[in-house]
Amino acid sequence: MKGKFITVEGTDGSGKTTFINFASEYLKSKGYKVITTREPGGTEFSEKVRELLFDTSNNIDAKTESLLFCASRRDHIMKKIIPYVKEGYIVICDRFVDSSIAYQSYGRSLKKQDIIDINSYATDGLTPDLTLYFSVDVSVGLARTKGRGENNRMDLEGLTFYKNVKKGYDDLSKEYSERIKVIDANKPYKDVEKEGLNILEGFLSNGF
Ligand code: TYD
Repeated sequence: MKGKFITVEGTDGSGKTTFINFASEYLKSKGYKVITTREPGGTEFSEKVRELLFDTSNNIDAKTESLLFCASRRDHIMKKIIPYVKEGYIVICDRFVDSSIAYQSYGRSLKKQDIIDINSYATDGLTPDLTLYFSVDVSVGLARTKGRGENNRMDLEGLTFYKNVKKGYDDLSKEYSERIKVIDANKPYKDVEKEGLNILEGFLSNGF
């Protein structure tokens, strides 16, 4: 039986990672086979690429960065996403191609069509069955992440960068409104969780 490929997207401090852990346990308790994974990462090779990408001493330009995200994505798709979906799993992935469009194109000002093109090459057109977009105001999100103390290369960007990334997600959610469901993540986490779960259950009840 074929499974489902679900991605979760959003800017920092949107609560998406907390939700992924919750949703995975919840769906397992309902009898579904579930795995969670993340990008960049998810395989041994892609986790190594992740280290390269986030190492602040690697002074890479935006195109090198985009290509590395693509390389790590392809390995992840080939070795993990496709095999598990084929086995009937619900694969919940923290970030996917929408992140590249939002961060590398809207954030880093690379041409949107170029990012779409390199990603369709890397993915052979694989598109998630459902995407949950946790939409949080940039100031709210950054206030939430302030105390976390993680500072990878992407975390060192300024307010304008994150505002542009958010605009990217907002545009994508309008362009692909059938696939991308928007969750208002400014609300308290419990409300966000409820909204996310409603969307997931609605989606799965429509034929798994
Ligand atoms: P991560 O530490 O996984 O945290 P979070 O997803 O909670 O923000 O950071 C991943 C970072 O990588 C994040 O800043 C977004 C960035 N990213 C891109 O710029 N492009 C991509 O294609 C992907 C998958 C991630």
